[in-house]
Amino acid sequence: MTENAVPAAELYTDEFAVDPYPAFAKLRVDSPVCPVTSPRFDSYLITRYDDAKAALMDPRLSKDLYGPGQHFLRIFGPNSEGLNKNMLNSDPPEHSRLRQITSRAFAPRRLEALRPRIAEIVAGLLDRIVPDGHADLMRDFAIPLPMMVIGELLGIPDKDRQTVLEWTQVIRESGSSGRPPAEEKARVQEAQAWLHGYLTELVAAKRIRPGDDMVSMLVAACDEEGVLSERELVSTTFLLLFAGHQTTADFIGNATVALLTNPAQLDLLRATPDLLPQAIEELLRFDGPLPVASPRIATEEVEYQGVRIPEGSIVGVVINSANHDPAQFEDADRLDLCRERGPHLGFGHGVHYCLGVSLARMEAQIGIGELLRRLPGLALAVPPEELRRLPAASPFRGLIELPVRF
Ligand code: HEM
Repeated sequence: MTENAVPAAELYTDEFAVDPYPAFAKLRVDSPVCPVTSPRFDSYLITRYDDAKAALMDPRLSKDLYGPGQHFLRIFGPNSEGLNKNMLNSDPPEHSRLRQITSRAFAPRRLEALRPRIAEIVAGLLDRIVPDGHADLMRDFAIPLPMMVIGELLGIPDKDRQTVLEWTQVIRESGSSGRPPAEEKARVQEAQAWLHGYLTELVAAKRIRPGDDMVSMLVAACDEEGVLSERELVSTTFLLLFAGHQTTADFIGNATVALLTNPAQLDLLRATPDLLPQAIEELLRFDGPLPVASPRIATEEVEYQGVRIPEGSIVGVVINSANHDPAQFEDADRLDLCRERGPHLGFGHGVHYCLGVSLARMEAQIGIGELLRRLPGLALAVPPEELRRLPAASPFRGLIELPVRF
Protein backbone atom coordinates (compact mmCIF):
# COMPACT_ATOMS: atom_id res chain seq x y z
CA MET A 1 0.00 0.00 0.00
CA THR A 2 1.18 3.53 -0.71
CA GLU A 3 2.02 5.86 2.16
CA ASN A 4 -1.05 8.03 1.45
CA ALA A 5 -3.33 5.10 2.30
CA VAL A 6 -6.16 5.92 4.69
CA PRO A 7 -6.47 3.73 7.80
CA ALA A 8 -9.98 2.24 7.83
CA ALA A 9 -10.51 3.53 11.39
CA GLU A 10 -10.12 7.11 10.11
CA LEU A 11 -12.70 6.64 7.39
CA TYR A 12 -15.27 4.52 9.20
CA THR A 13 -16.09 6.87 12.06
CA ASP A 14 -19.33 7.16 14.09
CA GLU A 15 -20.36 10.12 11.92
CA PHE A 16 -19.76 7.98 8.82
CA ALA A 17 -22.16 5.34 10.16
CA VAL A 18 -24.91 7.98 10.43
CA ASP A 19 -24.14 9.84 7.19
CA PRO A 20 -21.34 8.57 4.93
CA TYR A 21 -22.14 10.94 2.06
CA PRO A 22 -19.91 13.91 3.10
CA ALA A 23 -16.93 11.51 3.38
CA PHE A 24 -17.72 10.05 -0.05
CA ALA A 25 -17.94 13.56 -1.53
CA LYS A 26 -14.49 14.36 -0.14
CA LEU A 27 -13.02 11.13 -1.51
CA ARG A 28 -14.49 11.73 -4.97
CA VAL A 29 -12.61 15.04 -5.11
CA ASP A 30 -9.40 14.36 -3.14
CA SER A 31 -8.78 10.66 -3.65
CA PRO A 32 -11.21 9.12 -6.18
CA VAL A 33 -9.32 5.83 -6.04
CA CYS A 34 -8.47 5.58 -2.39
CA PRO A 35 -6.16 2.98 -0.83
CA VAL A 36 -7.53 1.92 2.56
CA THR A 37 -5.62 -0.15 5.12
CA SER A 38 -7.39 -2.25 7.71
CA PRO A 39 -6.43 -5.06 10.10
CA ARG A 40 -8.67 -7.44 8.09
CA PHE A 41 -7.52 -6.58 4.58
CA ASP A 42 -6.28 -3.62 2.52
CA SER A 43 -8.31 -2.41 -0.43
CA TYR A 44 -8.76 0.31 -3.04
CA LEU A 45 -12.06 2.19 -3.04
CA ILE A 46 -13.40 3.50 -6.35
CA THR A 47 -15.78 6.37 -5.65
CA ARG A 48 -16.65 8.25 -8.87
CA TYR A 49 -19.62 7.19 -10.99
CA ASP A 50 -17.81 6.71 -14.34
CA ASP A 51 -14.98 4.76 -12.74
CA ALA A 52 -17.40 2.66 -10.69
CA LYS A 53 -19.40 1.72 -13.78
CA ALA A 54 -16.23 0.90 -15.72
CA ALA A 55 -14.83 -1.14 -12.82
CA LEU A 56 -18.02 -3.21 -12.53
CA MET A 57 -17.51 -4.14 -16.21
CA ASP A 58 -13.74 -4.60 -16.04
CA PRO A 59 -12.75 -8.25 -16.66
CA ARG A 60 -9.37 -7.59 -15.00
CA LEU A 61 -11.24 -7.16 -11.73
CA SER A 62 -12.15 -10.73 -10.95
CA LYS A 63 -14.93 -12.02 -8.72
CA ASP A 64 -13.33 -15.46 -8.50
CA LEU A 65 -12.41 -15.31 -4.84
CA TYR A 66 -11.60 -19.01 -4.85
CA GLY A 67 -9.11 -18.81 -7.71
CA PRO A 68 -5.35 -18.41 -7.38
CA GLY A 69 -4.50 -16.54 -4.20
CA GLN A 70 -7.50 -17.88 -2.27
CA HIS A 71 -8.54 -14.33 -1.55
CA PHE A 72 -11.74 -15.44 0.09
CA LEU A 73 -9.71 -16.50 3.11
CA ARG A 74 -8.63 -12.92 3.65
CA ILE A 75 -12.15 -11.60 3.25
CA PHE A 76 -14.61 -14.13 4.59
CA GLY A 77 -12.38 -16.25 6.81
CA PRO A 78 -11.90 -20.01 6.85
CA ASN A 79 -14.91 -22.33 6.43
CA SER A 80 -16.67 -19.84 4.20
CA GLU A 81 -16.16 -21.74 0.96
CA GLY A 82 -19.00 -24.19 1.56
CA LEU A 83 -21.43 -21.26 1.43
CA ASN A 84 -19.78 -18.95 -1.05
CA LYS A 85 -18.98 -21.00 -4.13
CA ASN A 86 -21.73 -19.33 -6.12
CA MET A 87 -22.22 -17.00 -9.09
CA LEU A 88 -21.44 -13.86 -7.11
CA ASN A 89 -17.96 -15.17 -6.38
CA SER A 90 -17.10 -16.46 -9.83
CA ASP A 91 -16.19 -15.21 -13.32
CA PRO A 92 -17.43 -16.36 -16.71
CA PRO A 93 -17.72 -19.10 -17.87
CA GLU A 94 -18.58 -20.58 -14.39
CA HIS A 95 -20.55 -17.44 -13.60
CA SER A 96 -22.61 -17.68 -16.82
CA ARG A 97 -23.41 -21.34 -16.14
CA LEU A 98 -24.49 -20.75 -12.53
CA ARG A 99 -26.47 -17.64 -13.39
CA GLN A 100 -28.24 -19.29 -16.30
CA ILE A 101 -29.40 -22.22 -14.18
CA THR A 102 -30.61 -19.95 -11.38
CA SER A 103 -32.29 -17.46 -13.74
CA ARG A 104 -34.92 -20.06 -14.56
CA ALA A 105 -36.35 -19.54 -11.09
CA PHE A 106 -36.75 -15.80 -11.77
CA ALA A 107 -38.83 -16.12 -14.94
CA PRO A 108 -41.16 -13.09 -15.14
CA ARG A 109 -44.31 -15.24 -15.17
CA ARG A 110 -43.24 -17.07 -12.03
CA LEU A 111 -42.51 -13.81 -10.25
CA GLU A 112 -45.71 -12.11 -11.37
CA ALA A 113 -47.67 -15.02 -9.90
CA LEU A 114 -46.08 -14.14 -6.56
CA ARG A 115 -47.50 -10.59 -6.46
CA PRO A 116 -50.78 -11.45 -4.64
CA ARG A 117 -48.89 -13.56 -2.10
CA ILE A 118 -46.49 -10.68 -1.35
CA ALA A 119 -49.50 -8.38 -0.87
CA GLU A 120 -50.98 -10.93 1.53
CA ILE A 121 -47.76 -11.16 3.56
CA VAL A 122 -47.51 -7.35 3.73
CA ALA A 123 -51.15 -7.07 4.86
CA GLY A 124 -50.62 -9.73 7.53
CA LEU A 125 -47.57 -7.98 8.98
CA LEU A 126 -49.32 -4.60 9.01
CA ASP A 127 -52.49 -6.06 10.57
CA ARG A 128 -50.36 -7.16 13.49
CA ILE A 129 -48.77 -3.76 14.17
CA VAL A 130 -51.53 -1.30 13.28
CA PRO A 131 -53.50 -1.59 16.56
CA ASP A 132 -50.40 -0.85 18.68
CA GLY A 133 -49.69 2.67 17.41
CA HIS A 134 -45.95 2.04 17.58
CA ALA A 135 -43.48 -0.51 16.23
CA ASP A 136 -39.89 -1.35 15.50
CA LEU A 137 -40.28 -1.36 11.74
CA MET A 138 -37.10 -3.38 11.20
CA ARG A 139 -38.16 -6.20 13.55
CA ASP A 140 -41.86 -6.08 12.73
CA PHE A 141 -41.89 -5.34 9.01
CA ALA A 142 -38.72 -4.70 6.97
CA ILE A 143 -36.86 -7.85 8.10
CA PRO A 144 -39.70 -10.43 8.18
CA LEU A 145 -41.27 -9.38 4.85
CA PRO A 146 -38.40 -10.38 2.51
CA MET A 147 -37.56 -13.36 4.71
CA MET A 148 -41.10 -14.71 4.36
CA VAL A 149 -41.02 -14.13 0.59
CA ILE A 150 -37.64 -15.76 -0.04
CA GLY A 151 -38.52 -18.51 2.45
CA GLU A 152 -41.54 -19.40 0.32
CA LEU A 153 -39.62 -19.15 -2.93
CA LEU A 154 -36.85 -21.42 -1.67
CA GLY A 155 -39.28 -23.81 0.01
CA ILE A 156 -37.95 -23.30 3.56
CA PRO A 157 -40.62 -24.76 5.88
CA ASP A 158 -42.59 -22.17 7.82
CA LYS A 159 -41.51 -23.57 11.19
CA ASP A 160 -37.79 -23.07 10.40
CA ARG A 161 -37.93 -19.53 9.04
CA GLN A 162 -37.53 -17.68 12.33
CA THR A 163 -34.42 -19.69 13.30
CA VAL A 164 -32.90 -19.27 9.83
CA LEU A 165 -33.59 -15.55 10.11
CA GLU A 166 -31.89 -15.34 13.50
CA TRP A 167 -28.70 -16.99 12.21
CA THR A 168 -28.56 -14.79 9.09
CA GLN A 169 -29.00 -11.75 11.36
CA VAL A 170 -25.85 -12.80 13.25
CA ILE A 171 -23.91 -12.37 9.98
CA ARG A 172 -25.71 -9.14 9.07
CA GLU A 173 -25.19 -7.50 12.45
CA SER A 174 -21.60 -8.69 12.99
CA GLY A 175 -19.54 -5.86 14.42
CA SER A 176 -22.45 -4.28 16.25
CA SER A 177 -23.08 -6.67 19.13
CA GLY A 178 -20.52 -5.08 21.43
CA ARG A 179 -18.74 -8.42 21.85
CA PRO A 180 -14.91 -8.53 21.63
CA PRO A 181 -13.77 -9.06 18.00
CA ALA A 182 -12.52 -12.65 18.55
CA GLU A 183 -15.84 -13.65 20.12
CA GLU A 184 -17.74 -11.93 17.33
CA LYS A 185 -15.70 -13.74 14.67
CA ALA A 186 -16.37 -17.08 16.38
CA ARG A 187 -20.08 -16.26 16.45
CA VAL A 188 -20.14 -15.46 12.71
CA GLN A 189 -18.35 -18.73 12.01
CA GLU A 190 -20.89 -20.53 14.16
CA ALA A 191 -23.67 -18.90 12.12
CA GLN A 192 -22.00 -19.92 8.85
CA ALA A 193 -21.61 -23.49 10.09
CA TRP A 194 -25.25 -23.63 11.24
CA LEU A 195 -26.53 -22.26 7.93
CA HIS A 196 -24.32 -24.65 5.98
CA GLY A 197 -25.68 -27.58 7.98
CA TYR A 198 -29.28 -26.40 7.66
CA LEU A 199 -29.11 -25.77 3.91
CA THR A 200 -27.40 -29.11 3.33
CA GLU A 201 -30.29 -30.80 5.16
CA LEU A 202 -32.83 -28.74 3.22
CA VAL A 203 -31.29 -29.89 -0.06
CA ALA A 204 -31.39 -33.52 1.15
CA ALA A 205 -35.07 -33.13 2.12
CA LYS A 206 -35.97 -31.68 -1.31
CA ARG A 207 -34.17 -34.59 -2.93
CA ILE A 208 -36.55 -36.98 -1.18
CA ARG A 209 -39.67 -34.85 -1.48
CA PRO A 210 -39.34 -32.20 -4.22
CA GLY A 211 -41.74 -29.27 -4.31
CA ASP A 212 -42.53 -26.38 -6.62
CA ASP A 213 -39.71 -24.26 -5.21
CA MET A 214 -36.29 -22.94 -6.19
CA VAL A 215 -34.25 -25.42 -4.14
CA SER A 216 -36.06 -28.38 -5.74
CA MET A 217 -35.39 -26.83 -9.14
CA LEU A 218 -31.67 -26.49 -8.33
CA VAL A 219 -31.59 -30.07 -7.01
CA ALA A 220 -32.98 -31.28 -10.34
CA ALA A 221 -30.32 -29.24 -12.20
CA CYS A 222 -27.69 -30.94 -10.06
CA ASP A 223 -29.01 -34.53 -10.11
CA GLU A 224 -30.75 -34.85 -13.46
CA GLU A 225 -28.78 -32.47 -15.67
CA GLY A 226 -25.44 -32.63 -13.83
CA VAL A 227 -24.86 -28.92 -14.48
CA LEU A 228 -24.34 -27.96 -10.85
CA SER A 229 -22.10 -29.52 -8.19
CA GLU A 230 -23.34 -30.26 -4.67
CA ARG A 231 -21.25 -27.46 -3.18
CA GLU A 232 -22.51 -25.00 -5.80
CA LEU A 233 -26.06 -26.10 -5.01
CA VAL A 234 -25.76 -25.33 -1.30
CA SER A 235 -23.81 -22.10 -1.98
CA THR A 236 -26.38 -20.89 -4.51
CA THR A 237 -29.17 -21.56 -2.01
CA PHE A 238 -27.24 -19.52 0.56
CA LEU A 239 -26.74 -16.66 -1.93
CA LEU A 240 -30.45 -16.57 -2.77
CA LEU A 241 -31.37 -16.70 0.90
CA PHE A 242 -28.97 -13.99 2.00
CA ALA A 243 -29.15 -11.70 -1.07
CA GLY A 244 -32.89 -12.27 -1.19
CA HIS A 245 -33.75 -10.82 2.18
CA GLN A 246 -30.80 -8.91 3.58
CA THR A 247 -30.62 -6.14 0.98
CA THR A 248 -34.38 -5.78 0.62
CA ALA A 249 -34.86 -5.51 4.39
CA ASP A 250 -32.19 -2.82 4.70
CA PHE A 251 -33.55 -1.03 1.68
CA ILE A 252 -37.08 -0.84 3.09
CA GLY A 253 -35.65 0.53 6.37
CA ASN A 254 -33.41 3.12 4.67
CA ALA A 255 -36.17 4.19 2.29
CA THR A 256 -38.63 4.69 5.15
CA VAL A 257 -36.16 6.89 7.04
CA ALA A 258 -35.40 8.87 3.86
CA LEU A 259 -39.12 9.55 3.38
CA LEU A 260 -39.82 10.39 7.02
CA THR A 261 -36.92 12.87 7.09
CA ASN A 262 -38.00 14.49 3.80
CA PRO A 263 -41.63 15.34 4.57
CA ALA A 264 -42.32 17.29 1.36
CA GLN A 265 -41.27 14.25 -0.70
CA LEU A 266 -43.33 11.98 1.53
CA ASP A 267 -46.41 14.18 1.05
CA LEU A 268 -45.82 14.16 -2.69
CA LEU A 269 -45.67 10.38 -2.76
CA ARG A 270 -48.79 10.02 -0.62
CA ALA A 271 -50.62 12.39 -2.95
CA THR A 272 -49.29 10.69 -6.11
CA PRO A 273 -49.11 6.91 -5.57
CA ASP A 274 -48.35 6.44 -9.29
CA LEU A 275 -44.91 7.86 -8.54
CA LEU A 276 -44.07 4.75 -6.52
CA PRO A 277 -41.99 2.77 -9.08
CA GLN A 278 -39.93 5.87 -9.90
CA ALA A 279 -39.70 6.77 -6.21
CA ILE A 280 -38.28 3.34 -5.37
CA GLU A 281 -35.43 3.86 -7.86
CA GLU A 282 -34.66 7.30 -6.43
CA LEU A 283 -34.75 5.98 -2.86
CA LEU A 284 -32.31 3.26 -3.86
CA ARG A 285 -30.00 5.82 -5.46
CA PHE A 286 -30.34 8.08 -2.42
CA ASP A 287 -29.43 5.57 0.31
CA GLY A 288 -28.93 2.02 -0.93
CA PRO A 289 -28.37 -1.01 1.31
CA LEU A 290 -25.15 -2.21 -0.37
CA PRO A 291 -22.74 0.73 -0.10
CA VAL A 292 -19.85 -1.16 -1.68
CA ALA A 293 -20.22 -3.88 -4.31
CA SER A 294 -18.86 -7.26 -3.22
CA PRO A 295 -15.05 -7.41 -3.43
CA ARG A 296 -13.15 -7.70 -6.70
CA ILE A 297 -9.53 -8.86 -7.10
CA ALA A 298 -7.15 -7.25 -9.63
CA THR A 299 -5.75 -10.09 -11.75
CA GLU A 300 -3.13 -7.74 -13.18
CA GLU A 301 -2.01 -4.19 -12.45
CA VAL A 302 -4.81 -1.79 -13.36
CA GLU A 303 -4.91 1.97 -13.37
CA TYR A 304 -7.86 4.20 -12.47
CA GLN A 305 -7.54 7.99 -12.19
CA GLY A 306 -3.76 7.64 -12.44
CA VAL A 307 -3.62 5.37 -9.39
CA ARG A 308 -1.87 2.08 -10.00
CA ILE A 309 -3.68 -0.79 -8.33
CA PRO A 310 -1.23 -3.70 -8.04
CA GLU A 311 -2.09 -7.23 -9.10
CA GLY A 312 -3.73 -9.16 -6.26
CA SER A 313 -5.31 -6.06 -4.67
CA ILE A 314 -8.86 -6.08 -3.37
CA VAL A 315 -11.04 -3.44 -5.04
CA GLY A 316 -14.25 -2.03 -3.59
CA VAL A 317 -16.60 -0.24 -5.97
CA VAL A 318 -18.45 2.26 -3.79
CA ILE A 319 -21.96 2.16 -5.21
CA ASN A 320 -23.40 4.67 -2.74
CA SER A 321 -20.69 7.20 -3.59
CA ALA A 322 -21.14 6.72 -7.35
CA ASN A 323 -24.87 7.26 -6.87
CA HIS A 324 -24.18 10.67 -5.27
CA ASP A 325 -21.65 11.82 -7.88
CA PRO A 326 -22.70 15.32 -9.01
CA ALA A 327 -21.01 14.64 -12.36
CA GLN A 328 -23.79 12.11 -13.01
CA PHE A 329 -26.75 13.27 -10.90
CA GLU A 330 -27.77 16.90 -10.60
CA ASP A 331 -28.13 18.04 -6.99
CA ALA A 332 -27.14 14.49 -6.09
CA ASP A 333 -27.54 14.78 -2.30
CA ARG A 334 -31.20 15.80 -2.64
CA LEU A 335 -34.00 13.23 -2.54
CA ASP A 336 -36.11 14.03 -5.58
CA LEU A 337 -38.78 11.43 -6.24
CA CYS A 338 -39.56 13.08 -9.59
CA ARG A 339 -35.99 12.60 -10.79
CA GLU A 340 -35.89 10.94 -14.19
CA ARG A 341 -35.37 7.23 -13.66
CA GLY A 342 -31.63 7.49 -14.01
CA PRO A 343 -28.91 4.91 -14.46
CA HIS A 344 -28.10 4.47 -10.76
CA LEU A 345 -25.83 1.59 -9.75
CA GLY A 346 -27.96 0.41 -6.80
CA PHE A 347 -28.51 -2.98 -8.42
CA GLY A 348 -24.93 -3.15 -9.72
CA HIS A 349 -23.86 -3.23 -13.36
CA GLY A 350 -22.34 -5.72 -15.80
CA VAL A 351 -22.55 -9.49 -15.58
CA HIS A 352 -23.25 -9.53 -11.83
CA TYR A 353 -26.22 -7.13 -12.15
CA CYS A 354 -28.73 -8.12 -9.48
CA LEU A 355 -30.57 -11.26 -10.50
CA GLY A 356 -33.40 -10.53 -8.08
CA VAL A 357 -34.08 -6.99 -9.32
CA SER A 358 -37.72 -7.60 -10.32
CA LEU A 359 -38.49 -9.37 -7.07
CA ALA A 360 -36.80 -6.61 -5.05
CA ARG A 361 -38.75 -3.92 -6.88
CA MET A 362 -42.01 -5.80 -6.38
CA GLU A 363 -41.43 -6.27 -2.64
CA ALA A 364 -40.33 -2.66 -2.14
CA GLN A 365 -43.23 -1.22 -4.13
CA ILE A 366 -45.89 -3.28 -2.38
CA GLY A 367 -44.21 -3.01 1.04
CA ILE A 368 -43.54 0.74 1.07
CA GLY A 369 -46.78 1.56 -0.78
CA GLU A 370 -48.92 -0.29 1.77
CA LEU A 371 -46.91 0.99 4.73
CA LEU A 372 -47.69 4.57 3.73
CA ARG A 373 -51.33 3.81 2.94
CA ARG A 374 -52.08 1.92 6.15
CA LEU A 375 -50.08 4.16 8.51
CA PRO A 376 -51.03 7.72 7.56
CA GLY A 377 -49.50 9.28 10.70
CA LEU A 378 -46.21 7.41 10.42
CA ALA A 379 -43.31 9.25 12.14
CA LEU A 380 -39.93 8.40 13.65
CA ALA A 381 -40.10 7.80 17.41
CA VAL A 382 -36.50 9.00 17.94
CA PRO A 383 -34.44 11.72 16.24
CA PRO A 384 -32.82 10.34 13.05
CA GLU A 385 -29.27 10.72 14.41
CA GLU A 386 -30.18 8.45 17.34
CA LEU A 387 -31.32 5.52 15.19
CA ARG A 388 -29.26 2.39 15.91
CA ARG A 389 -27.37 1.54 12.75
CA LEU A 390 -25.08 -1.20 11.49
CA PRO A 391 -21.42 -0.25 12.13
CA ALA A 392 -19.68 2.16 9.76
CA ALA A 393 -17.39 -0.54 8.31
CA SER A 394 -20.22 -3.04 7.75
CA PRO A 395 -20.61 -4.21 4.15
CA PHE A 396 -24.29 -3.34 4.54
CA ARG A 397 -25.98 -0.02 5.18
CA GLY A 398 -28.99 -0.53 7.36
CA LEU A 399 -30.68 -0.08 10.69
CA ILE A 400 -30.71 -2.36 13.69
CA GLU A 401 -33.92 -0.80 14.97
CA LEU A 402 -36.45 1.58 13.42
CA PRO A 403 -38.75 2.81 16.20
CA VAL A 404 -41.82 4.56 14.78
CA ARG A 405 -45.22 5.75 15.98
CA PHE A 406 -48.37 6.28 13.97
C1 HEM B 1 -26.38 -9.19 -7.05
C2 HEM B 1 -28.36 -5.23 -5.03
C3 HEM B 1 -32.31 -7.78 -3.85
C4 HEM B 1 -30.30 -11.75 -5.73
C5 HEM B 1 -26.60 -7.90 -6.62
C6 HEM B 1 -25.67 -6.80 -6.81
C7 HEM B 1 -26.22 -5.72 -6.23
C8 HEM B 1 -27.49 -6.10 -5.69
C9 HEM B 1 -25.62 -4.32 -6.16
C10 HEM B 1 -24.32 -6.88 -7.53
C11 HEM B 1 -23.22 -7.12 -6.54
C12 HEM B 1 -21.83 -7.05 -7.15
O1 HEM B 1 -21.67 -6.84 -8.36
O2 HEM B 1 -20.89 -7.20 -6.37
C13 HEM B 1 -29.59 -5.61 -4.53
C14 HEM B 1 -30.49 -4.70 -3.86
C15 HEM B 1 -31.61 -5.41 -3.53
C16 HEM B 1 -31.40 -6.77 -4.01
C17 HEM B 1 -30.21 -3.24 -3.60
C18 HEM B 1 -32.86 -4.97 -2.82
C19 HEM B 1 -33.28 -3.74 -2.76
C20 HEM B 1 -32.15 -9.07 -4.32
C21 HEM B 1 -33.14 -10.11 -4.23
C22 HEM B 1 -32.58 -11.23 -4.73
C23 HEM B 1 -31.22 -10.88 -5.17
C24 HEM B 1 -34.55 -9.97 -3.66
C25 HEM B 1 -33.26 -12.56 -4.88
C26 HEM B 1 -32.87 -13.65 -4.43
C27 HEM B 1 -29.07 -11.38 -6.23
C28 HEM B 1 -28.13 -12.33 -6.81
C29 HEM B 1 -27.00 -11.60 -7.18
C30 HEM B 1 -27.26 -10.22 -6.82
C31 HEM B 1 -28.36 -13.83 -6.99
C32 HEM B 1 -25.73 -12.14 -7.84
C33 HEM B 1 -25.81 -11.96 -9.33
C34 HEM B 1 -24.56 -12.41 -10.06
O3 HEM B 1 -23.51 -12.57 -9.44
O4 HEM B 1 -24.67 -12.61 -11.28
N1 HEM B 1 -27.72 -7.43 -5.95
N2 HEM B 1 -30.17 -6.85 -4.58
N3 HEM B 1 -31.01 -9.56 -4.90
N4 HEM B 1 -28.51 -10.13 -6.25
FE1 HEM B 1 -29.40 -8.47 -5.53
